[in-house]
Amino acid sequence: MAIVSSASGAGPGTPRSPSSPLAEARPRLLDPAAQVADDPQESELPQREDSLRPRRLADYIGQSELKQVLGIAIEATRARGDALDHVLLYGPPGLGKTTMALVLAEELGVRCRITSAPALERPRDIVGLLVNLQRGDLLFIDEIHRLNRVAEEILYPAMEDFRLDLTVGKGTTARTRSLEIAPFTLVGATTRAGALSSPLRDRFGLIQRLEFYGLDDLQAIVARAAALLQLQLENAAALEVARRCRGTPRIANRLLRRVRDVAAVRGHGVIGPELVAEALSLHRVDGRGLDASDRRLLSLLLEGHGGGPVGLDTLAAALGEDATTLETVVEPYLLQLGFLQRTPRGRIATEAARQHLGCGEAA
Ligand code: ADE
Repeated sequence: MAIVSSASGAGPGTPRSPSSPLAEARPRLLDPAAQVADDPQESELPQREDSLRPRRLADYIGQSELKQVLGIAIEATRARGDALDHVLLYGPPGLGKTTMALVLAEELGVRCRITSAPALERPRDIVGLLVNLQRGDLLFIDEIHRLNRVAEEILYPAMEDFRLDLTVGKGTTARTRSLEIAPFTLVGATTRAGALSSPLRDRFGLIQRLEFYGLDDLQAIVARAAALLQLQLENAAALEVARRCRGTPRIANRLLRRVRDVAAVRGHGVIGPELVAEALSLHRVDGRGLDASDRRLLSLLLEGHGGGPVGLDTLAAALGEDATTLETVVEPYLLQLGFLQRTPRGRIATEAARQHLGCGEAA
């Protein structure tokens, strides 16, 4: 059977049809004995990162608004015995989008299937995933802004009516078949919400932005990770890691492992702030968490262009970086620190950036 494509007649934002046969015959979803599975083969999550992830909402530090919104949705979903509405999580990388998807599955007692848009190149990739879903499953698609148009169109009726519209055969013999699938929850994650097509964006019931974490939350995240890694880390040392992790738990955990290495080599049982500063300077991470890429970007603006403005593409070419990486990975933290401004005429490095780098006035 050749699966060619699918198309939905439903317009963007069309709510799930209450008269759909599935909606009428929807039994309770939640089986308390349901296996909470994140099949490692399927999820392809890095094991090391996985070991420090919080598994329950109560253990998830920070993102208070997100937790409040999802906490209510989880409770209402549990009470209805329904599938959770589709969720779109967006924001800079490393802030916990995948972790939150796993927490949602754990809280709902359902399985979480994890994939990313570039892995869904052929129609049969996404169809294969959708037909194998069980009632209530969570399907996590990372980098969802990179879905191709065919995959998106397969998703529309799947998201709205838990239905696949498949074209079977070719040419004059082609026919459309409609196939019921299990009610499921799509959790999409993206660093670029603006790059999602509006029909896709409109099909998410919950759209939530993840914010950079504040120092207190980061310090708590570092302390929690240190305890899990069985490290003796002073509070001031946890704060020192927190200051240098760009508001990002994934980076905090990575830096903590580098500190652990230095502590092990130097034979320090208890880790203090001086050791953190020394270990992270070794990795060229400065006191505000800027790394070599950040400093190169700011130096180029300040010393090469008198502070700017300079267009993104010009910066990317001069730095030998990809423009999207600069925009989605490097710049957000510099904007957050107030070291960079985006203007219609290009990027500007601020006075605060000049002072941080200790640059003289540009000519
Ligand atoms: N590890 C990574 N992110 C975390 C978070 N938000 N809360 C607790 N531990 C974490």
